[in-house]
Amino acid sequence: MSLTQAASTLVRHSARQPLPALRHASAASVQQQRRHRADASTSHAQFKSPFHRGQQDSPDTTVIPSFKKYRGGSETGNKMFSYFMVGAFGGLSAMGAKDTVQNFLVNMSASADVLAQAKVEVDLAAIPEGKNVIIKWRGKPVFIRHRTSDEIKEAEGTDWQKLRDPQPDSARVKKPEWLIMLGVCTHLGCVPIGESGDFGGWFCPCHGSHYDISGRARKGPAPLNLEVPEYDFPEETNLIIG
Ligand code: FES
Repeated sequence: MSLTQAASTLVRHSARQPLPALRHASAASVQQQRRHRADASTSHAQFKSPFHRGQQDSPDTTVIPSFKKYRGGSETGNKMFSYFMVGAFGGLSAMGAKDTVQNFLVNMSASADVLAQAKVEVDLAAIPEGKNVIIKWRGKPVFIRHRTSDEIKEAEGTDWQKLRDPQPDSARVKKPEWLIMLGVCTHLGCVPIGESGDFGGWFCPCHGSHYDISGRARKGPAPLNLEVPEYDFPEETNLIIG
């Protein structure tokens, strides 16, 4: 064997066989790692969760802690208290809502003076036959005419089909002797004058409209008869308009 071959064989052998010092260092490192693992497993086993109330060795931390010592009374008593509180606050809320709605409706409703104007009561006994009375109702004049028998005959005998606003007298009165109408000209809203005009009824001087003794438009620019409001006779000599 030459010198070169002997050197080469020695190098290969050294590479396969680690030195004793290296072997010793490697073994110490492995032992140290094992010791660390053992220490870690020992410390994990000794960890005690604040939520743990079962077996002392169990690492389970998902157990729900007991709050029994914070509870007062029995479970039934607590339920009763909860139901009572819910019911009491529900009742109070309902009362508050009812008061709010009631106050809103009261504020939105018509006041006493407005309601008083909604209807007007008239004593018919104070109006003699053949006379007119004008009263105010909802801010408008209302004509009340106590008609004579001749006026009733004239109103009923008119050929109403040929009029501008055809209407029989019977459709405009509830009692023939009492004619009740709004005193507002149907042309442009003037107040006609009573017992005047070409037909013995009312005359509007603004533009010259004539109404007959039934309040029907007979001449001039007025397109419609005088309007008849809602009214009733609760008693023989009592009239309520509205
Ligand atoms: S307002 Fe009465 S005739 Fe014009």
